[in-house]
Amino acid sequence: MKLSQRITQLTEGGSDGWGVFYRARRMISEGQAVTELTIGEHDIRTDPSILAEMELSARQGHTGYAMVPGTELLRETVAARIQTRTGVNTTRDNILITPGGQSALFAAHVAVCDPGDVGLYLDPYYATYPGTIRGAGAVARVVQTTAEDAFQPRADRIDAASEGAVSLLINSPNNPTGVVYSRQTLEAVAEVCRRRDLWLISDEVYDTQVWDGTHISPRALPDMLARTLVIGSMSKSHAMTGSRCGWVAGPPDVIEHMINLATHTTYGVPGFIQDAAVFALNAGPELENRITAPFRRRRKLAMDILAAQNTVGLIPAQGAMYLMLDIRPTGLNGEGFANALLDTHAIAVMPGESFGQAAAGHIRVAMTIDDDRFAAALRTICCFAAELSSGR
Ligand SMILES: Cc1ncc(COP(=O)(O)O)c(C=O)c1O
Repeated sequence: MKLSQRITQLTEGGSDGWGVFYRARRMISEGQAVTELTIGEHDIRTDPSILAEMELSARQGHTGYAMVPGTELLRETVAARIQTRTGVNTTRDNILITPGGQSALFAAHVAVCDPGDVGLYLDPYYATYPGTIRGAGAVARVVQTTAEDAFQPRADRIDAASEGAVSLLINSPNNPTGVVYSRQTLEAVAEVCRRRDLWLISDEVYDTQVWDGTHISPRALPDMLARTLVIGSMSKSHAMTGSRCGWVAGPPDVIEHMINLATHTTYGVPGFIQDAAVFALNAGPELENRITAPFRRRRKLAMDILAAQNTVGLIPAQGAMYLMLDIRPTGLNGEGFANALLDTHAIAVMPGESFGQAAAGHIRVAMTIDDDRFAAALRTICCFAAELSSGR
């Protein structure tokens, strides 16, 4: 039987860079000790206080169908959070609660792209981006950023790619690069969006993980309110990856259409999860800081270790739970280096090539193991790179 092109061409074969990840997984399942620095997931679990609230809500009976747009309380709580963080007037009518940020990304593209429209995204990119755009029926067109620009997007490149485009997807703080887009970058990107009449889909799921600089939501920039859809999530800010709770913030008329889409796709998010999310958000910065603290610490450890050597380059590690390391002096590409590192030292990292072409010759290191093992792994990576480069 024939299957749709939409589903069979979703991933277009993907990148070979994922081979390292699967090899590491296999080694672990065979009982080998592998230092796992591939995955973007906290090494702590959801806080017991959030779980207690989840259980209480479920026991109180919130296990049936929940309101499709999200409970009024959660929509209001998310709106208040966004208003506090950005200064932009936001009400519950601006918010749709979704099963995670990923579902919000898909819904946003369905909302603004017709089949055959072009959706732009930036390389390097979070693994699901091109498939998400294609899944919405649009044509995914990539715009390169470069290590030389510290992976800050350039407005002229976006402009040059924007023929036929209806949307641009950006992500700051960025996975995989750890870069936070500057105000100057975002203002230039916003200017292109206005001039080229593009929707801006702004993935801000790492908005609590900022180590250097300031997170600016482009929805708050002049004349961007009506053309920006912000993607948010409880996954990274509250270590609730498995709870599948996120949101889209946008103009009320767009949200209305997206609620209609949700009625015909996800049918909402469980009520007990939403109650737990309200509890977690109301717990305020103290809880958020507790969750981000290990990454802030490890990033500082990494800066010190990298400053003491001169082979491996560090892309400015301004936010998110990753480091992007430039290993080009070794003469290997990211994939070659990651494979050799796994074979020689049983350390698993992601090759830059698994996130597109722009980060070739780099590796992404997730800061998701305890401090001592993390520091030891990073020292080993630096020594290994130095050996390879001196042997050239
Ligand atoms: C940049 C980015 N966006 C979105 C997501 C999706 O997160 P979730 O669906 O768990 O909210 C992730 C997950 O790793 C991510 O890194």
